[in-house]
Amino acid sequence: MTSSYMNELSAPQKVLLGPGPSSVHPRVLAAMASPVMGHLDPAFFQVMDDVCDMLRMVFNTENKMTVPISSTGTGAMETACANIIEPGDEVLICRNGYFGIRLADIAERCGATVHLFDTPWGKAVDPQALRDELKKLPGLKAVGMVHAETSTGVLSEVKELVEIVHEFGALTIVDAVTSLGGHEMRMDDWGIDICYSATQKCLGAPPGLAPISLSPAAMDVVVKRPTKVQSFYFNLKDLEAYWNQTRAYHHTSPINMTYALRESLRMMMEEGLDNRIRRHARVAAGFRAGAEALGLTLLAEEGHRLNPLTTVSIPEGIDDGKVRRTLLNDYEIEIGGGLGEFAGKAWRVGLMGESARERNVFAVLSALETILSKEGYEVAFGASLSAAQRAIATFDE
Ligand SMILES: Cc1ncc(COP(=O)(O)O)c(C=O)c1O
Repeated sequence: MTSSYMNELSAPQKVLLGPGPSSVHPRVLAAMASPVMGHLDPAFFQVMDDVCDMLRMVFNTENKMTVPISSTGTGAMETACANIIEPGDEVLICRNGYFGIRLADIAERCGATVHLFDTPWGKAVDPQALRDELKKLPGLKAVGMVHAETSTGVLSEVKELVEIVHEFGALTIVDAVTSLGGHEMRMDDWGIDICYSATQKCLGAPPGLAPISLSPAAMDVVVKRPTKVQSFYFNLKDLEAYWNQTRAYHHTSPINMTYALRESLRMMMEEGLDNRIRRHARVAAGFRAGAEALGLTLLAEEGHRLNPLTTVSIPEGIDDGKVRRTLLNDYEIEIGGGLGEFAGKAWRVGLMGESARERNVFAVLSALETILSKEGYEVAFGASLSAAQRAIATFDE
């Protein structure tokens, strides 16, 4: 018997249309194959500075403290909470899906007294209702919210929500894991205090880094807090020294992931942020039109639908797992299943970063038409494709 670990690695090329990771351009993969440098090599410091400069452009911020954390998005959630929250602090977390629930969990683990502001799945956080809730909760240290809820496909109006939170003097923690690089994000203009993301969605790099940005006021809270941040790895005071000041060793940087992020950001700069956001919108419009023509219901509230990720209902009697397995095995296309309340009820189709391409819209729609028809679902062949074509062709009108 031969062990499979003795075989050369086989990583087949798949079209990644799930909630992340998204497909990665060969330029980004090639950058990752560059020689490893030391994390204290001045040549690497230049790479770090390039990455931070471009991240500031993507977040639309002047914040000096804008760096990639060595982790996936969850590590950035931990970083935000661990640095801002001291034991006993009161925070409010807006929950309208799975990642709001995770944010509340992490805030609680950091010692906060967590108040919850719940919105039904599929709906955006309502600004007026948030204001009413905040009136009942004086003395909050921070309010956390998810810009793009990947579990439901909903985009909340962060600009308005942040303005309201500031009327009450609390800091804002905004999860932009699925929005950064795919939707407008204007951290400074909108007054966001702490914002974080992850590389594997609209930023177009593999999973492994999580950009975060803190306003000077938020950094002041971190630097002046009397208690030690309970996480050594994620404490931003030391990370700031390594990234922006003395360059003192804190932990060994994931060097080649930093190359990848640099290249993916460079590609964003070449495309132009506005063009990229528009591409996500156009491709999403095509997919949504096609999905509806196929008879699938869009689960996110109209007017608050995410472009990088669309949630659709699974038709009655259709076997979720079987459809997704067939897509993956026969068509080499990955889409996501539902999470939490939407488990077994929804498919999540991500068109993010390098995956946000017209050709992927047509590939997934035609595969779904074929698979669903074989499963006994009534399909008018070609209808979803022509609806998508029409939506894409008329997008700019
Ligand atoms: C909105 C949101 N926040 C946080 C996360 C957690 O990120 P990760 O899985 O990279 O740790 C995700 C992951 O999908 C997400 O979609």
